[in-house]
Amino acid sequence: TTPLIIDTDPGVDDAFALALAVASPEVELLGVTTVFGNVALPDTTENALRLRALLGREDVPVAVGAARPLVHPQPRLSSAHGSDGLSGFRHTLPEPTAPVDARDAVTLLRELLEAADRPVTVVPVGPLTNIALLLAAHPHVKPKIARLVIMGGGLEGGNITASAEFNLWCDPEAARRVLADEDVPTTLVTMDLTSRCAVSGEWLGDLARTSARAAKLVGLTPDYLATYRRFLGIDGMAVHDAVAVAEAIRPGLLTTAAYPVDVECAFGPSRGAVVADRRLDAPAGRRVDVTTGADLPAVRDFLFERLGALGDG
Ligand code: BDR
Ligand code: CA
Repeated sequence: TTPLIIDTDPGVDDAFALALAVASPEVELLGVTTVFGNVALPDTTENALRLRALLGREDVPVAVGAARPLVHPQPRLSSAHGSDGLSGFRHTLPEPTAPVDARDAVTLLRELLEAADRPVTVVPVGPLTNIALLLAAHPHVKPKIARLVIMGGGLEGGNITASAEFNLWCDPEAARRVLADEDVPTTLVTMDLTSRCAVSGEWLGDLARTSARAAKLVGLTPDYLATYRRFLGIDGMAVHDAVAVAEAIRPGLLTTAAYPVDVECAFGPSRGAVVADRRLDAPAGRRVDVTTGADLPAVRDFLFERLGALGDG
């Protein structure tokens, strides 16, 4: 099994990502760290704890991370995930019976990586603040990271602004540190690809009928679905973060190309946008594997197969 850590700001699609990891025998979920993002940190943490309870994995530590970006305040929260980050349906999830870990997120990440007997896949699916802090403060853990599989960015445009994808936009300085300055093997699962993997209302309805847990998960989607209906005119939703976890579980599920990548940190219409140098003569140096495609029905089927086996708990 591949050891896995998820850094997350739940978030409706984050909920699907956590469920996918728990439902997949190829990976061992070592820990979950929380970060501000879709909603404020106390809410993302509460959501992570309740999702952990729903999934019956209160043995997995959940540690609290950054409440705000490295340098500049987050201009606004996401409006896509409802008031509590779970479409206003957090209260339908079980009350946590285990507390949050006593360690902060960066400490938990460091200790889990130090203790791991094999390199660990780390999947950041929120703002990159915790990961930037970890790599800056504890660079000795880098060899223990097999790969960062990051959900973020888009080469074809953004969602929170015309040019920027939400996760990178929340903390562009942290994203630049992780994507441009560090030297850990990294796959960037962009919203270009995750949007094309969107699942339909019918898909969600079918999933809800598979088990009580799956029904709870689908019960968290109304506000998020409403956002997709309003902005994109579709009956369905992107499960961005779950696609990144799917790639971590099945390396190579998504196709990629290696590019130098940077993140716009200037204030202006492109703040938070990712810039990939796709020229054939791009300068030598760090490359990030940026997603280029996938067998889209196969990705959806994989998600359904796994989430459809969550069981009743
Ligand atoms: C990303 O932003 C968040 O709203 C989602 O949870 C996902 O991580 C998509 O742009
Ligand atoms: Ca997220």
